[in-house]
Amino acid sequence: MECYYKFDIDTTQILNLDYINRKAVENSGKGMTLVISQLALKPSFFNYLKPYGLRDYLMLFLRRSGNLNEETHTDYVTDEQPHHYSLNILCQGQGTMSWFYRPEGGGQMLRHPNDPTRIIYETFNGMELDPIDKWTDGKIALVRTGIPHGVRNDGTEDRVCLSIRIDDYGWEHAKEIYNNFFKTSLQ
Ligand SMILES: [Fe+2]
Repeated sequence: MECYYKFDIDTTQILNLDYINRKAVENSGKGMTLVISQLALKPSFFNYLKPYGLRDYLMLFLRRSGNLNEETHTDYVTDEQPHHYSLNILCQGQGTMSWFYRPEGGGQMLRHPNDPTRIIYETFNGMELDPIDKWTDGKIALVRTGIPHGVRNDGTEDRVCLSIRIDDYGWEHAKEIYNNFFKTSLQ
Protein backbone atom coordinates (compact mmCIF):
# COMPACT_ATOMS: atom_id res chain seq x y z
CA MET A 1 0.00 0.00 0.00
CA GLU A 2 1.24 3.49 -0.87
CA CYS A 3 1.42 5.36 2.44
CA TYR A 4 2.69 8.69 1.15
CA TYR A 5 2.99 10.53 -2.16
CA LYS A 6 5.47 13.40 -2.46
CA PHE A 7 5.09 16.71 -4.31
CA ASP A 8 8.14 18.69 -5.38
CA ILE A 9 6.83 22.22 -4.78
CA ASP A 10 8.37 25.29 -3.20
CA THR A 11 6.53 25.71 0.11
CA THR A 12 6.74 29.53 -0.05
CA GLN A 13 4.48 29.49 -3.15
CA ILE A 14 1.51 28.01 -1.29
CA LEU A 15 1.90 29.01 2.39
CA ASN A 16 2.13 32.19 4.44
CA LEU A 17 5.14 31.08 6.44
CA ASP A 18 5.35 34.31 8.48
CA TYR A 19 1.93 33.57 10.02
CA ILE A 20 2.64 29.84 10.47
CA ASN A 21 6.04 30.37 12.07
CA ARG A 22 4.59 33.00 14.42
CA LYS A 23 1.92 30.51 15.57
CA ALA A 24 4.59 27.83 15.98
CA VAL A 25 6.66 30.11 18.23
CA GLU A 26 3.61 31.23 20.24
CA ASN A 27 2.67 27.60 20.88
CA SER A 28 6.10 26.04 21.29
CA GLY A 29 5.93 23.48 24.07
CA LYS A 30 2.56 22.18 22.83
CA GLY A 31 2.35 19.21 20.47
CA MET A 32 -0.33 20.77 18.29
CA THR A 33 -2.17 24.05 17.70
CA LEU A 34 -4.90 25.12 15.29
CA VAL A 35 -4.26 27.78 12.63
CA ILE A 36 -6.77 29.61 10.41
CA SER A 37 -6.64 28.12 6.92
CA GLN A 38 -7.35 31.45 5.19
CA LEU A 39 -4.32 32.99 6.90
CA ALA A 40 -2.04 29.95 6.56
CA LEU A 41 -2.55 29.36 2.82
CA LYS A 42 -1.80 31.75 -0.05
CA PRO A 43 -5.10 33.06 -1.53
CA SER A 44 -4.87 31.07 -4.79
CA PHE A 45 -4.31 27.78 -2.93
CA PHE A 46 -7.02 28.58 -0.35
CA ASN A 47 -9.57 29.45 -3.07
CA TYR A 48 -8.72 26.30 -5.05
CA LEU A 49 -9.14 23.98 -2.04
CA LYS A 50 -12.22 25.64 -0.49
CA PRO A 51 -14.77 23.83 -2.75
CA TYR A 52 -13.12 20.49 -1.91
CA GLY A 53 -14.07 20.90 1.74
CA LEU A 54 -10.98 22.60 3.10
CA ARG A 55 -11.36 22.98 6.88
CA ASP A 56 -11.55 26.48 8.40
CA TYR A 57 -8.92 25.46 10.96
CA LEU A 58 -5.87 23.34 10.20
CA MET A 59 -3.69 21.43 12.62
CA LEU A 60 -0.12 22.60 13.03
CA PHE A 61 1.98 19.85 14.58
CA LEU A 62 5.01 20.85 16.64
CA ARG A 63 7.68 18.32 17.53
CA ARG A 64 10.92 19.24 19.29
CA SER A 65 14.27 18.08 17.98
CA GLY A 66 15.15 14.80 19.69
CA ASN A 67 11.53 13.86 20.55
CA LEU A 68 11.50 10.19 19.53
CA ASN A 69 8.13 9.29 21.03
CA GLU A 70 6.12 8.24 17.97
CA GLU A 71 2.71 8.32 19.69
CA THR A 72 1.42 5.87 17.09
CA HIS A 73 -2.26 6.35 16.28
CA THR A 74 -4.96 6.28 13.61
CA ASP A 75 -7.10 9.38 12.99
CA TYR A 76 -10.89 8.99 13.00
CA VAL A 77 -13.74 11.28 11.90
CA THR A 78 -16.28 9.31 13.95
CA ASP A 79 -15.88 6.36 16.33
CA GLU A 80 -16.29 3.96 13.40
CA GLN A 81 -14.81 5.83 10.43
CA PRO A 82 -11.04 6.37 10.04
CA HIS A 83 -9.85 9.64 8.53
CA HIS A 84 -8.54 9.12 4.98
CA TYR A 85 -5.55 11.39 4.28
CA SER A 86 -3.87 14.74 4.85
CA LEU A 87 -1.53 16.94 2.83
CA ASN A 88 1.40 17.37 5.20
CA ILE A 89 3.76 20.28 4.65
CA LEU A 90 6.98 20.60 6.62
CA CYS A 91 7.44 24.30 7.39
CA GLN A 92 10.55 23.66 9.46
CA GLY A 93 12.67 20.59 10.26
CA GLN A 94 12.10 17.06 8.95
CA GLY A 95 11.76 14.07 11.25
CA THR A 96 10.37 10.69 10.18
CA MET A 97 6.74 9.71 9.68
CA SER A 98 6.16 5.94 9.83
CA TRP A 99 3.19 3.68 9.04
CA PHE A 100 2.32 0.32 10.63
CA TYR A 101 -0.07 -2.59 10.28
CA ARG A 102 -3.08 -2.38 12.60
CA PRO A 103 -2.69 -5.04 15.29
CA GLU A 104 -5.37 -7.64 15.87
CA GLY A 105 -7.69 -6.32 18.54
CA GLY A 106 -6.88 -2.70 17.67
CA GLY A 107 -5.84 0.02 20.10
CA GLN A 108 -7.54 2.43 22.49
CA MET A 109 -10.02 5.10 21.31
CA LEU A 110 -9.35 8.63 22.62
CA ARG A 111 -10.76 12.13 22.05
CA HIS A 112 -8.55 15.20 21.92
CA PRO A 113 -9.33 17.61 24.80
CA ASN A 114 -9.08 20.63 22.42
CA ASP A 115 -11.94 19.41 20.19
CA PRO A 116 -13.44 16.14 21.55
CA THR A 117 -16.27 15.92 18.99
CA ARG A 118 -14.03 16.19 15.94
CA ILE A 119 -10.57 14.95 16.90
CA ILE A 120 -10.80 11.22 17.59
CA TYR A 121 -7.86 8.83 17.72
CA GLU A 122 -7.11 5.18 18.11
CA THR A 123 -3.83 5.02 19.99
CA PHE A 124 -1.27 2.23 20.07
CA ASN A 125 1.06 3.62 22.73
CA GLY A 126 3.47 1.06 24.09
CA MET A 127 2.53 -1.55 21.48
CA GLU A 128 5.08 -3.09 19.12
CA LEU A 129 3.64 -2.76 15.58
CA ASP A 130 4.93 -4.17 12.29
CA PRO A 131 6.23 -1.38 10.02
CA ILE A 132 4.98 -0.74 6.47
CA ASP A 133 6.90 2.34 5.28
CA LYS A 134 8.65 5.59 6.31
CA TRP A 135 8.74 9.16 4.93
CA THR A 136 12.16 10.68 5.59
CA ASP A 137 12.83 13.36 2.94
CA GLY A 138 11.06 16.10 1.00
CA LYS A 139 8.82 18.84 2.36
CA ILE A 140 5.33 18.02 1.01
CA ALA A 141 3.42 14.74 0.83
CA LEU A 142 -0.10 13.40 0.76
CA VAL A 143 -0.05 11.01 3.72
CA ARG A 144 -2.43 8.30 4.83
CA THR A 145 -3.93 8.98 8.26
CA GLY A 146 -6.46 6.13 8.33
CA ILE A 147 -3.89 3.46 9.21
CA PRO A 148 -1.58 3.46 12.27
CA HIS A 149 1.15 6.10 11.93
CA GLY A 150 3.50 8.14 14.08
CA VAL A 151 6.21 10.79 13.89
CA ARG A 152 9.58 10.96 15.57
CA ASN A 153 11.93 13.90 15.26
CA ASP A 154 15.45 12.52 15.06
CA GLY A 155 16.66 15.73 13.32
CA THR A 156 18.57 18.66 14.80
CA GLU A 157 15.82 21.22 14.04
CA ASP A 158 12.40 21.47 15.68
CA ARG A 159 9.72 20.10 13.35
CA VAL A 160 6.74 22.25 12.31
CA CYS A 161 4.21 20.41 10.12
CA LEU A 162 0.99 21.84 8.68
CA SER A 163 -1.76 19.26 8.06
CA ILE A 164 -4.20 20.27 5.31
CA ARG A 165 -7.48 18.35 5.33
CA ILE A 166 -10.17 18.27 2.67
CA ASP A 167 -13.13 15.88 2.17
CA ASP A 168 -12.59 12.25 1.19
CA TYR A 169 -12.25 11.74 -2.59
CA GLY A 170 -10.21 8.55 -2.38
CA TRP A 171 -6.44 8.34 -2.50
CA GLU A 172 -5.91 8.51 -6.28
CA HIS A 173 -8.39 11.37 -6.81
CA ALA A 174 -6.80 13.34 -3.96
CA LYS A 175 -3.42 13.06 -5.69
CA GLU A 176 -5.04 14.47 -8.85
CA ILE A 177 -6.67 17.34 -6.98
CA TYR A 178 -3.34 18.52 -5.62
CA ASN A 179 -1.38 17.76 -8.81
CA ASN A 180 -3.88 19.78 -10.87
CA PHE A 181 -3.26 22.84 -8.77
CA PHE A 182 0.51 22.45 -8.62
CA LYS A 183 0.81 21.87 -12.38
CA THR A 184 -1.58 24.54 -13.61
CA SER A 185 -1.39 27.33 -11.03
CA LEU A 186 2.29 27.36 -10.15
CA GLN A 187 5.00 28.07 -12.67
FE1 LIG B 1 -2.31 11.55 12.71
